[in-house]
Amino acid sequence: MMDLSGKNAVITGGTRGIGRAIALDLAGCGARVYALYARDRKSAEALEQEAGHKGLGIITIRGDLARQETFQASVDQVKEACETIDILVHAAASGVHKSAMELTDRHMRWTFDINFFAVHKLTVALIGKMKKGGRIIGVTSPGGERVIPHYAAIGASKGALEALFRHYARELAPQGIMVNLVCPGMVMTDAAQAFPQLAERLAMTLEYTPTGDLTRPEQVAALVRFLCSEEAKQIVGQTLVMDGGKGLLA
Ligand SMILES: NC(=O)c1ccc[n+]([C@@H]2O[C@H](COP(=O)([O-])OP(=O)(O)OC[C@H]3O[C@@H](n4cnc5c(N)ncnc54)[C@H](OP(=O)(O)O)[C@@H]3O)[C@@H](O)[C@H]2O)c1
Repeated sequence: MMDLSGKNAVITGGTRGIGRAIALDLAGCGARVYALYARDRKSAEALEQEAGHKGLGIITIRGDLARQETFQASVDQVKEACETIDILVHAAASGVHKSAMELTDRHMRWTFDINFFAVHKLTVALIGKMKKGGRIIGVTSPGGERVIPHYAAIGASKGALEALFRHYARELAPQGIMVNLVCPGMVMTDAAQAFPQLAERLAMTLEYTPTGDLTRPEQVAALVRFLCSEEAKQIVGQTLVMDGGKGLLA
């Protein structure tokens, strides 16, 4: 088992879905995890309770990262709690599901504020706490590269995120901080439940996925854990796809 004891991990969107699984996994390896979230206190409390039962070190921090005041309050709490940050995972995301021609400026801003601008602001705010051996991991989606119905805003934000991370990877690798992205296929989280025409989309995903399975949050977490390992330090600036092979057929 990987030993992350003595390490601090900050995970945005760490209280629900994929981020929650990553929080539990890294904490299970001994890391002290700071799970950031926006509004849903119940999920945060449930995670803290589960962590308490399992003897894991998970601290949740509430604050909308897309709003300046609450962003700054979250950053201040993280900085005060952590002398150094070893792992930074950007899993928080939101977005408007509409076709491209229906998207207003407001829809685009809502989506980009959390999926793109908050990621960059947080990375810049915390980079001074990161040192050699650090890892920054983003969570993107197949829609960053391909067309998914009603996914224009989120897909565009993920495409921008991927481009930004290539620059992070190039700039930070000489300092020993490795930057990568994971790209899960469809994962049945609360966010996925909100997809328009969910039943059709689910059926189509399963039909076109060679393994015949959806990706599970715990599988994504295991991939993130691997990226945090010493063995993975030559992986730089990559997007690791975990979609049961669906992308092969697109
Ligand atoms: N699910 C999929 O099929 C899928 C596929 C590919 C990629 N992804 C990516 O995987 C990541 C996680 O997705 P998920 O499906 O696990 O999402 P999810 O279950 O909806 O959880 C989203 C998390 O992000 C937090 N969050 C949202 N907006 C925020 C904000 N403004 N400030 C701070 N935190 C915020 C939420 O906090 P609250 O609980 O307080 O709302 C929650 O903890 C996302 O980047 C998503 O794009 C998902």
